[in-house]
Amino acid sequence: VLRMGELALAGKRVMIRADLNVPLRDGVILDDTRIRAFVPTAQAALAAGAAVLVLSHLGRPKEGAFDAEASLAPVARRLGDLLGRPVPCVGAWLDGVAIQPGEIALGENVRFNVGEKKNDDALAQRMAALCDVFVMDAFGTAHRAEASTHGVAKYAPVACAGPLLVAELDALHLALAAPKRPLVAIVGGAKVSSKLAVLTNLLPMVDRLIVGGGIANTFLVAAGHDVGHSLYEPDLVETARGLLEQARELGRPIPLPRRVVVATEIGDTVPSAVKDVGNVDADEMILDFDADFASELGDIIRSAGTVVWNGPLGVFEYPAFAQGTRLLAQAIADSPAFSICGGGETLAAIAKFGIADRVSYISTGGGAFLEVLEGKTLPAVEVLEQRAAART
Ligand code: 3PG
Repeated sequence: VLRMGELALAGKRVMIRADLNVPLRDGVILDDTRIRAFVPTAQAALAAGAAVLVLSHLGRPKEGAFDAEASLAPVARRLGDLLGRPVPCVGAWLDGVAIQPGEIALGENVRFNVGEKKNDDALAQRMAALCDVFVMDAFGTAHRAEASTHGVAKYAPVACAGPLLVAELDALHLALAAPKRPLVAIVGGAKVSSKLAVLTNLLPMVDRLIVGGGIANTFLVAAGHDVGHSLYEPDLVETARGLLEQARELGRPIPLPRRVVVATEIGDTVPSAVKDVGNVDADEMILDFDADFASELGDIIRSAGTVVWNGPLGVFEYPAFAQGTRLLAQAIADSPAFSICGGGETLAAIAKFGIADRVSYISTGGGAFLEVLEGKTLPAVEVLEQRAAART
């Protein structure tokens, strides 16, 4: 692909799609790894004399309206602090933004625009008209073909890859080309529907698959348990059942917890209890796994050659539900295995449990790096390849 560094950007209108989708709680950024990882890209474009419009999504707001909870305003402030210059957060950027060469602005959440998620052509063309050069640097969103990651790259006068995207792809391809075995993948978190599809491809490739969070709840239902009010995906129970069976046949069963931490609501001071997985009441949610399960996972992780981790085991942001994820993070930190960890929530967990310097490679991507692990070409990278091929 064409790289940003190969282009003369002085005086050009440069639109950079970044992944600044950081975890926020009450407007406070819980972890700014993704913003920090983007700083060198912004600095390079500014130093080259470009007029820089940065775009990103945040969360999954409903399209067609402004949603204060998904506003990038706090992210613009943090980016400004890190760059040592103001970064305005522009609401109606689709109507055009006046940015001088050597200046930078952040467009408000791309997912407020109708058509972003379904990669609407007209929306992508409107975006493309706002720039001379489109730079795709959002590795964490490169597995999504959306208007600001994929469509715009088809129509922009020039489309290229940003330094973070290139660095992530190079590092992951190197680490995953011939991973030291056993290869253990831990996939947790709340994005059940998009990740379960990935697991189907991943299962035959890895030596051990471990599931956590809402994904694990779906497997618990598939194994015949009643998970009460827990987050899970009813439509994917059959898929999960098939995976449990396939894993058993392969002789490397997917471990599931026997005891779980439950509560009727999520919060800092709510009462919680540890229960057998068969005894979860209808109004209870599974929000973490008990220490025995975490220590079983610890044994698997200690004997791994490579560990890949995306997605927490429990709702670790709250002390009552943090134990499973904390013990998992510690097991990864203590393991001699080469470890690759990433994803919005996972980055926050790594920071919270202080294991960053004991992880071999930290990726800004979650779902994206799992798809690289699957051996897929990410759609937002594929379109850059097509553009590069068309130039020669
Ligand atoms: C992520 O956090 O994995 C990326 O930012 C993509 O977010 P999405 O799953 O909402 O598309």
